[in-house]
Amino acid sequence: MAVLIGLQGSGKSTFCRRNLAATHVVVSKDAFPKARHRQRRQMRLVEEALAGGRSVAVDNTNPSPEEWQPLIGAARQHGAATVGYWFPPDVPAALARNAARQGRARVPEVGIFATLGRLRRPRHVDGFDRLYEVRIDGRGGFTVEPMPTDDRPAAEGQPATDDCPATDDRPAPADRLMVDDRRAAGFRPDGTVRVDEGD
Ligand SMILES: Nc1ncnc2c1ncn2[C@@H]1O[C@H](COP(=O)(O)OP(=O)(O)O)[C@@H](O)[C@H]1O
Ligand SMILES: [Mg+2]
Repeated sequence: MAVLIGLQGSGKSTFCRRNLAATHVVVSKDAFPKARHRQRRQMRLVEEALAGGRSVAVDNTNPSPEEWQPLIGAARQHGAATVGYWFPPDVPAALARNAARQGRARVPEVGIFATLGRLRRPRHVDGFDRLYEVRIDGRGGFTVEPMPTDDRPAAEGQPATDDCPATDDRPAPADRLMVDDRRAAGFRPDGTVRVDEGD
């Protein structure tokens, strides 16, 4: 099971077509924009593909654990591994690529910002068996890099390393506030604890 994760206009469908479509059943809610119960319909297609022993690629924005968990759950039930493809948000680029699209392929900009607000960087602790970071390489192609497994609980005396925000220009999502909380609670990055002077 491949799960693509990224803003509208980040290149997911292009990546999917070029790299996954030959080997995976591609499921996307874009294929039934008007249907009621799109989530249910998507899950049915995912289940059918997995039950038939096929690999499936889910090509939506899939911004958060709310979208990932049912997919990962279905994959596990069928003994399939889940691979996440993370397209880090580049808002100006996504807006520009969206603006250049025609007709229904162009989405209202507010939709991109709504997705940005929900977007979380996937981590192995979320249940992904493998994670790759995918970027448009500026030459018409993509770079694909395995994401480090830096999301396990910090080892004794080691700082947690997963404190870089998905973008630099917005507040850290809730799942990254822990490191700041640790600092506020007196933990230094080197693992020692600050003891406040005074009372
Ligand atoms: N690797 C790439 N290099 C340059 N342009 C790309 C690349 N991948 C996609 N695009 C362009 O960006 C736009 C959005 O791509 P698309 O794959 O539809 O994104 P998404 O599915 O994430 O919305 C399209 O116009 C597409 O032609
Ligand atoms: Mg798409």
